[in-house]
Amino acid sequence: MEKTIHYFKNPGEENTDKLIELVKIRRQELGINNIVVASASGSSGVKLAKSIDPDVNIVNVTHHAGFKGGDLIEIESKHKTELDKMGVNIYAGSHSLSGVGRGISNKFGGITPVEIIAATLRLFSQGVKVGVEISIMAADAGLIPTDIEVIAVGGTGKGLDSAIILKPVHMSNFFDLKINEIIAMPRH
Ligand SMILES: Cc1cc2nc3c(=O)[nH]c(=O)nc-3n(C[C@H](O)[C@H](O)[C@H](O)COP(=O)(O)O)c2cc1C
Repeated sequence: MEKTIHYFKNPGEENTDKLIELVKIRRQELGINNIVVASASGSSGVKLAKSIDPDVNIVNVTHHAGFKGGDLIEIESKHKTELDKMGVNIYAGSHSLSGVGRGISNKFGGITPVEIIAATLRLFSQGVKVGVEISIMAADAGLIPTDIEVIAVGGTGKGLDSAIILKPVHMSNFFDLKINEIIAMPRH
């Protein structure tokens, strides 16, 4: 089987529109009906949802409350309104690939096993690591199934530059997760 991977020259937000177009095409080819997207503000989530068939289940994962301090959830209200209108689920919860591990390393130094998993996935790209992470979060929230393939989309700080097709798992079965395809990622 031959498939194409789109490599962006550089990581970052400027790849968002092209990435969404690639996701749209591959989703239609494979008939995948569940997409999980990392969008802290909801901005990329709105762009994605606008270009995808409304029957598709889209989950917009934002940062956990307090990621930037206080108890703030970063979804912006104007994006939340649009996402709600389009029937997109918005989810905020503990980050599966840092979690309490980050609390331990922040306090005592060193690195925990789960953070090593995250660092290893970042060898591909930030967005590939994010795709794996948010698929587990969405699966554990009961928002996507674990018995069929889904598309997971992430980026580097802002916007979107990576998309993978994977079979999600719940966090207790992490090593059963399968990354089946890379749709796009930055090369640099
Ligand atoms: C749960 C979660 C974890 C994330 N982890 C990272 C990360 O480790 N590295 C990174 O560059 N971006 C990370 N991001 C950012 C996303 O990949 C994406 O670029 C961003 O949320 C897009 O948001 P926007 O639509 O507001 O621009 C994370 C986002 C979320 C929601």
